[in-house]
Amino acid sequence: MRVLILGVDGYIGWALAQRLATRGLDLYGVDNFFTRRRVKEVGSDSVLPVPSIGRRLQLFRGFYGRGIKFFRGNVADPEFLYSVFKEAKPDVVYHLAEQRSAPYSMIGLKQANETMVTNLVSTINLVYAAKDVNPNVHIIKLGTMGEYGTPNIDITEGFFDIEFRGRKDTLPFPRSAGSWYHWTKVHDSNNLMFANRLWKLKITDVMQGVVYGTEIKEIEKSRLFTRFDIDEVWGTALNRFAAQAVVGLPITPYGKGEQKRGFLSLEDSISCLTIALEKPPKDGEYRVLNQFDQYYSVNYLADTVREVFRELTGKDARIKHVENPRVEAEDHYYNPDHKKLYELGYKPSGELKKDIKKIIEDLLEYEEKCKELKSVIMPRTYWRKSSGL
Ligand SMILES: NC(=O)c1ccc[n+]([C@@H]2O[C@H](COP(=O)([O-])OP(=O)(O)OC[C@H]3O[C@@H](n4cnc5c(N)ncnc54)[C@H](O)[C@@H]3O)[C@@H](O)[C@H]2O)c1
Repeated sequence: MRVLILGVDGYIGWALAQRLATRGLDLYGVDNFFTRRRVKEVGSDSVLPVPSIGRRLQLFRGFYGRGIKFFRGNVADPEFLYSVFKEAKPDVVYHLAEQRSAPYSMIGLKQANETMVTNLVSTINLVYAAKDVNPNVHIIKLGTMGEYGTPNIDITEGFFDIEFRGRKDTLPFPRSAGSWYHWTKVHDSNNLMFANRLWKLKITDVMQGVVYGTEIKEIEKSRLFTRFDIDEVWGTALNRFAAQAVVGLPITPYGKGEQKRGFLSLEDSISCLTIALEKPPKDGEYRVLNQFDQYYSVNYLADTVREVFRELTGKDARIKHVENPRVEAEDHYYNPDHKKLYELGYKPSGELKKDIKKIIEDLLEYEEKCKELKSVIMPRTYWRKSSGL
């Protein structure tokens, strides 16, 4: 089977490639190093070492005995994507290649436009390339649980049954995103649904929770690390909390800290994405999977990081609530469904405390690098102050 990973140089893409290499699949990868560049722009870097792509691919082939055929280019460039499709002839394509930082999209108009245009265009390019070059390809597209927002009712997986003024229908579950980035994922979902209606493309639209962790089983053995970001723009909640503890900064829940979100480990994210490939939707089906293991409040995660850090190092980490840079409910109802992946065979890999311990251990191994980045960890991007021209 031929599998194309758009965004193979990223946090999830590089780990996914390693899992798929162990399944004997033919791998093709695309990246334009957008994340590497933009992370540098905010004065940050991956804490775990990420060599040049040439070196990465060489080490990958050396360890797994099979390579990734790599194409450097922008998925938002239609000629480029069509040419990749013609050469790779993928049976499955994972679309991970989007601007993925909510804070980045909220810095100002330039970043908002860049996120809006490149994300939407890349997905439109993908469905056209699929339709024209390989209409049987299975598209696995990464969206986010953040598309749903935090409604005061249960959240279903993609669609819900409604009765209104005496009539019934099954409709897309209402989306209510909280950043320009999250809205791009909503628009992508709408576009994917429409492409499916037009051309009967086979699509899995993954509503993924926040991913945490440094390793998956394969990385433990290969030591071919995936990137790990801890700064306020590119790092995600739990990963940043661990880094704050390691460098001696306070752990900073935003506002009241009772925001609840779905989370899953990198290992579980990769398992779910592999299940999506191995258990595809029917021909012509558009399916939505809510992909997370548990939902936690930010306060619970901060307390757990503090507890694990104390157990591991004997040192205390302080928790300090800071002004919330985001515009979001800080205490709310949250009860999303996540049944479909379990029905397809997903079994969560571990437990939160063990995963946090592993993150802290890896960060302690690269403590000097964490300390170099100390000045970019605390929040500075305020949604309401997003700058214009
Ligand atoms: N990490 C999470 O917690 C999380 C949660 C929910 C959803 N997601 C989604 O999963 C996907 C992958 O996330 P990630 O954490 O691996 O992000 P990442 O930024 O580490 O990886 C994305 C990769 O795609 C590349 N890329 C971006 N735009 C591109 C373009 N136009 N052309 C070619 N390459 C491009 C980047 O250079 C990067 O290597 C994203 O779509 C993200 O929105 C991630």
